[in-house]
Formats: sequence, structure tokens, C-alpha cells
Amino acid sequence: MSEKILYSYTALFDTPNQIIKAAKKVKEEGYTKYDVNTPYPIHGMDAAMELKPSLLPYVALVVGLTAAISMIIFLWWQNTIDYPLNIGGKPFFALPAYIPVTFEVTVLSASIATVVAMLFFVFKFPNNVHPLHDTDYMKRVSVDKYGISIQAEDPLFEAEKVKSLFNSLGASSITPIYYSDELVNFKPKILEPKFISFLIILFIVVSGATYITLNKLLFLPPYSWMMVQDKVIAQKTSDFFGGGSGMLTPVKGTVARGFLPYKFDKKPELAAKELVNPLMPVKKNIELGKTKFNIYCSPCHGYHAEGKSRLRGQFPIPPSLHSDKVRNWSDGRIYHVITEGQNVMPSYAHQLSRQERWAIVLYIRALQRSLNAKESDLQ
Ligand code: HEC
Repeated sequence: MSEKILYSYTALFDTPNQIIKAAKKVKEEGYTKYDVNTPYPIHGMDAAMELKPSLLPYVALVVGLTAAISMIIFLWWQNTIDYPLNIGGKPFFALPAYIPVTFEVTVLSASIATVVAMLFFVFKFPNNVHPLHDTDYMKRVSVDKYGISIQAEDPLFEAEKVKSLFNSLGASSITPIYYSDELVNFKPKILEPKFISFLIILFIVVSGATYITLNKLLFLPPYSWMMVQDKVIAQKTSDFFGGGSGMLTPVKGTVARGFLPYKFDKKPELAAKELVNPLMPVKKNIELGKTKFNIYCSPCHGYHAEGKSRLRGQFPIPPSLHSDKVRNWSDGRIYHVITEGQNVMPSYAHQLSRQERWAIVLYIRALQRSLNAKESDLQ
């Protein structure tokens, strides 16, 4: 037989004004263990009960700050100690790059911690029983009444005094609420050590079996996988050549097939003498030269190479390529300017392949010829 214990005295009121007045009065009388239940939030109730602000923001602050600091330390450790990676010469400890991750982790941890703290500390989840649950009092205050409940464990609690206080405030009904030991000593089954041990064992067995199946059993005969073979795996060391590197560094002076280095560095005269245009002046090549000239050269030199810059004086205007000087240059000499640049004009060796450079030379020749046609061109 379970014993009945007095939990509280409750009173019901008919209007919001009455319940606010009641809450103020109960607070004034010095009661601390009481609560108000209303069908909807009532403005001014927090002030009447002199409720302190919730503790949850502090949980968010502490957890958020901890997460932010740990994240920055983790990123620092990862990027400067564990796996330093040179990204475009930027410092290993690059705070701006860490901000997005740190921000996300901060927000995520703070919000999850707030919810967990609310559920498990404020609401005492998974224990969801309360003496007021399933009482007439609770049914009424969920519909059209406004209730207040003063708990028996309040140091000032005296049944008679509380009753007369409620009466003086104009309560429409006053009821004591009892609860049983069972309710106090309620232990959710889910928290029983047996069940928790069962969960832990289940977790170990399932994850262990999964791990062994996917990583060991499936790699025994008769299975054979393409991924299991001797090869260099990205980001892994390899002992094949020694030194840990999966590839050998090229012997000094190695040149890629068909890519002899330009050997006329700062030697325009030699380039002029020795370089010969390997392209025939046929339509296909001249068309290629035209396309590339219009893209890469015309902004400064103009579409017809006469020096009509489109850069509106923001870059020195180049001389005309129709000058006697350039007309008398050999193809190799013009090729040299494109490859190495000349004074303020930069090199275009990285934008244009060798074939494209030679094609441009052909096109410049065509442009020059258009202003200096020979007798024979007119026939
Ligand atoms: C950013 C502007 C600019 C671009 C783009 C440019 N040039 Fe020039 N170029 C110049 C300037 C300025 C000079 C004059 C340099 C000097 O003072 O020697 C020049 C000089 C030259 C000369 C030598 C002319 C002479 O009389 O000495 C040639 C040939 C030439 N450019 C060809 C080209 C070709 C071909 C391209 C396209 C691949 C090109 N340039 C793209 C600005 C440019």
C-alpha cells in the first residue's frame, strides 16, 4: 500500500487579474515554493512572481566559448603540427580560414547543449512524472481557469494559513494535492542498469561485427579486390624507391619531351638570327594567329596593330607594328618579344603556346602586308 503524501494546496481563480494579484500576494507573504498554471502565457506574470531569468543562456555562453576555443586550438594543431600543408604560401596558422568552421561548431555546440540542458536538467527528462499531472486542477488550468499551487515543502507552509490566504484572494475552489511514494520513487525503466548494459553490449557486438566483416572477412579468399594491390596511394608513404616518396624527382636538367627550354634568354639578336617560323602561312594558321592576336594583343596594339590601344591611357601606348623597324625584323625577332616581353610589355609565354605565338607572327605579317602591298599582290 503506498502512502499518500501532501504535495501542495491549489487554488483556482476566474480571471487573469485575480491570478496576477494572487501571485504578487503569495510572493509578498514570503513563499518560495509555489507555481502558477494558466491556459496561456499571461503578461506581467514573470514580474509578479519576480522570476529570475533562465540559466540556459549561460549554458549556451560557456559551451559556445569552449567550443570556439577548442576548435581554434584543434585547427592550429591540425594545420601547424599534425599536417602542415602549404597553401599558396599562406601561413599555417591562418585565422581567417578558421572562422567558418569555428563559427559553425560554436553555434552547433551551443544550441545542442542548450536543448540537452533544458531537457535533462530543467525538465528532468526522462523522468516525466509530476504530482500535478492528471489532476482536476491541471485539467481546469489547461482550459479556462487560472491556478496557483503552494507546495507543502515550503518552509512557511501551514495548511490553514494557506487556505485562508487563498480565500482572502477570492479563490473559486481550493484543493489539496496528494501523491504516492511510487510517484516520488519513480525510476524510468530506460535508466535501469540492466537495460543500459544491454544497450552497451549490443553496441559493441554490432559495431564489432560490422568492423570485422567489412575490414577483415571480406578481404579473405575467395574475395579479391582491385583496391588491394601494389600501388602508390595518395598521401601515403611508399618504400618502393626508398626515401618514402612514391615518385622519383627528375634528374637535374631533365627536359619534358618536345619542350626544349627557350635558349635565347635576353638574346634578341641571336633569336632573330636563329629562330625560324615552323608554320606555313596558310589560312588555318593565320586564322589561329588572328584569334589569338585579337584576344591577347589587340587591347594594347589595336585590332590592326597600328597602336590604337583600348586601355584609355591606363597603360603606355605601344608603337605601331607597321613601322619599318618591325617590318624588317625577322619572324624570330617578333617571336622573341612575345616570348620574353619588351620593357613594359610583359611576356606572353604562359598564355600562348609556341604554336600560337608563331601563328600570331604570321598574322602580324599579314596585317603589315595589308598596308604595304607589293606590286604582285595587286595583280
Ligand atoms: C598590356 C599591353 C600590351 C599587350 C597586351 C601587348 N603589348 Fe606588345 N607592346 C606593348 C608596349 C607598351 C610596347 C612597347 C614596349 C617598349 O617600350 O619597348 C610593345 C611592344 C611590342 C613590340 C615591339 C614594337 C617595337 O617597335 O619595338 C611587338 C612586336 C609587340 N609588342 C607585339 C605584341 C604581340 C604580338 C602581342 C600579343 C601577344 C602584344 N604585343 C601584346 C604593350 C602590349
